[in-house]
Amino acid sequence: MKKIFITRRIPENGLAMLREKGFTLVLSEKPRPLSKRELIKELKKNPYDAVLCLLTDTIDKDVFDAAPSVKIFANFAVGFNNIALEEAKKRGVVITNTPGASTESVSEFTLALILNAARRVNEGDRFMRAGKFKGWGPPMFGRDIKGMTLGIVGSGRIGAEVAKKALRGFEMKIIYYDVIRNELLEKEYGARFVSTLEELLRTADVVSLHVSLLPSTKHLINKERLAMMKKTAYLVNTSRGPVIDENALVDALKNGVIAGAGLDVFEFEPKTAKGLTRIENVVLTPHIAAGTEIARQEMARLAVTNLIAFFDGKTPPNVVV
Ligand code: GLV
Repeated sequence: MKKIFITRRIPENGLAMLREKGFTLVLSEKPRPLSKRELIKELKKNPYDAVLCLLTDTIDKDVFDAAPSVKIFANFAVGFNNIALEEAKKRGVVITNTPGASTESVSEFTLALILNAARRVNEGDRFMRAGKFKGWGPPMFGRDIKGMTLGIVGSGRIGAEVAKKALRGFEMKIIYYDVIRNELLEKEYGARFVSTLEELLRTADVVSLHVSLLPSTKHLINKERLAMMKKTAYLVNTSRGPVIDENALVDALKNGVIAGAGLDVFEFEPKTAKGLTRIENVVLTPHIAAGTEIARQEMARLAVTNLIAFFDGKTPPNVVV
């Protein structure tokens, strides 16, 4: 029987699908990601046929070397920047992901961060908890997002869904930048394509990042580009932490270069850049945009469907390489 190593407990629906098919499952029960050393140690214990891994697992040359019998790594994630794709390709190891599993949950959460940043929900919450509320009064607090221009960077599934929700739910104006144009975004959501990231940064009141992490997108938002944003603008990131130079963002937030930010992902995850957690005008959440029950279960279903298809001799539906 095929043996699968699962690097961390995933939702039961996925495990049940695998058990039903008769796979032998070996599961790490640690309530945290395995370190690379631990992963390698585990993989050396058995000649596994497949690994179901998470975005927190670094799957590189050393891991492939430790698991020569593994023919497929099914990533329990939409992103796959944790996997050395060229190395996998060279060895003929199949890599799959779970596209679409979190489009709804991440786009909703992106709107939550946009609203939180502009309406300063987290600051209000801290104010209440500190016992500072002395009664209602006329001072102004927060800004309406209706009519603001939302700049979407990366117009894939999630970027497009954020645009839709922002337009239909909050009447924001949409502009977007990507290396390829997205007709749906332009035709259905009236989004205006801008041909450079710089133009988007100079125009948008809210900049929301929806790109994959690639060598070309690492530090896409750096000191110079933060300086191009409006002083009144907000930056939101639900993609991957290293897309932003986080130290530069800390400086920008401290020095009023931009008005605020909402971050669900971090450059040195799970750590945050020095000083970030002491800044008031930033909302920080622990990579939970895709954390809903529906999204997690769908992610489990898709990851497992890829494995089952592979061992049925079919091409898995979501092959990356
Ligand atoms: C989450 O960040 C994912 O890539 O699925």
